Amino acid sequence: MSKSENVQLLEVDVAKLSSKSENVQHLEVVVAKPSSRNDDIEVTSSCPHTWYRVHCRLLPDLHIQVRLFKNSVSLSDLVGFNNTGNVCIWPSEECLAYYCLENRTQFSGSRVLEVGGGMTCLAGLLLAKTNVAKQVHLTDGNSNAATNLQDMLEGDQVNLGGGSTEVSASMLRWDDVEAVEHLKNSFDWIICADCLFFDSGREGLVTAIQQLLTPDGVALIVAPNRGGTFTQFENSARRLFDVQVQTNYSPTIWEAHQRWLEDPAYQTDIHYPKLMMLSNKSCS
Ligand SMILES: C[S@@+](CC[C@H](N)C(=O)[O-])C[C@H]1O[C@@H](n2cnc3c(N)ncnc32)[C@H](O)[C@@H]1O
Repeated sequence: MSKSENVQLLEVDVAKLSSKSENVQHLEVVVAKPSSRNDDIEVTSSCPHTWYRVHCRLLPDLHIQVRLFKNSVSLSDLVGFNNTGNVCIWPSEECLAYYCLENRTQFSGSRVLEVGGGMTCLAGLLLAKTNVAKQVHLTDGNSNAATNLQDMLEGDQVNLGGGSTEVSASMLRWDDVEAVEHLKNSFDWIICADCLFFDSGREGLVTAIQQLLTPDGVALIVAPNRGGTFTQFENSARRLFDVQVQTNYSPTIWEAHQRWLEDPAYQTDIHYPKLMMLSNKSCS
């Protein structure tokens, strides 16, 4: 991803992010600030990290802590499995989180899986904190990201507060046939942000979603157009699913997008995440 994608993208009616934020992206529908926990949390991971306190103005009483890797790229990061989810929380994840909170009642009593959620699975975690869903399972295909998710849940450092939603995390690669088979038909909802731009990943993601969803389940995919990759995924998905695409899916996010259009660095194609909803053809 180019450096220009790291600009603050959408400004919504919430507090500014701290300028110290290294790797939380900035649609500002969700607010993240460095946490005081950085002083008192025992470092359990070999990767240097920083804790952030996250909340969403939509639900002012809802707070969680997330742990982000400090931006340092090693050789193994460059040659190993895709590392983009360990760089920052991307704007699509922030939009997905906001959308899930805004529409939280639809997850009532359901089993939710986040795929490709990066080092925080922010959307899944914030949804879990609302205690609406029965279960939220957080996943990513990168082993460092998956370990970070598990570490955050350990001892509830993330601050879910022992609510009624059962929360778990694991590594899950979309092309891992055995792992996907193990979780087959297990989820009423799959949520996914900014995972459509890998040319080698789209077909595997479509197939995995079909396997993992219950027959009447729904997948929510949030991603920008990014050079036609959104449409390429949409075309693949249409072979298996009924597909709906929404450009304006949240008044708050849309309003922010309109404001950001005035910024010359803002390019809708790479910066504005759209929403795609997939449901089984047989359910329509
Ligand atoms: C751009 S990041 C998005 C992370 C997060 N959703 C966000 O928006 O901040 C793409 C994520 O997809 C994950 N990914 C890529 N290929 C994958 C695969 N085959 N299986 C599982 N995860 C994969 C990467 O590890 C990475 O975390």
